[in-house]
Amino acid sequence: KKIAVFASGSGSNFQAILDSIQSVGLDASIQLLVCDQPGAFVIERAKLSSIRTFVFTAKDYRSKEDYEKEISLQLKECGVELIVLAGYMRLIGPTLLKEYEGRIINIHPSLLPDFPGKDAIGQAIAAEAKWSGVTIHYVDEGMDTGPIIVQERVRLEENETRESLQRKIQTMEHKLYPAILQMLLTKGDGTNDEETCTDKCFR
Ligand code: GRF
Repeated sequence: KKIAVFASGSGSNFQAILDSIQSVGLDASIQLLVCDQPGAFVIERAKLSSIRTFVFTAKDYRSKEDYEKEISLQLKECGVELIVLAGYMRLIGPTLLKEYEGRIINIHPSLLPDFPGKDAIGQAIAAEAKWSGVTIHYVDEGMDTGPIIVQERVRLEENETRESLQRKIQTMEHKLYPAILQMLLTKGDGTNDEETCTDKCFR
């Protein structure tokens, strides 16, 4: 299945997905990286693996609708069936939500609905939470609000720091995202209908 990854940062999840395709046969092919930060390291990672990139700066466009129309053209050219958000720091707008309804997923470093939005790891530390973790969910118009596909917990130790929690969460993300992708791409069609074994199996 042809996928696009949207990312704005270092791209360690992008890399984990790519590595799983190459080494353990994750049945997906990254056709396109979409990135809104021209200096992001994820772009280097894509180039190293000869993956097509669409890099844009939001302020060069009049509106979200304008740049999402451009993204949509790119996705169509590449035959993308599923959009995988991995550290993409923008809300998806109506243009893409309509075209890819039920076919956009995101990974978030907390147990949603706790700590949505930016710096979820810092939020968990500041709240002295006992547990945090990782959530993979379908994307809707809200900020980290769509239907949950899977969650995995990590326990925060007494002396937990932002750095140590980030390490634990990232290690978890790098295993969980490729595994869930494999599940979605083989057991269903990547959409959140009855066929795709979401709530029932993973909640
Ligand atoms: C991840 O922690 C992910 O959960 C969040 O953004 C971060 C992206 O990290 N949405 P990376 O760019 O994949 O290293």
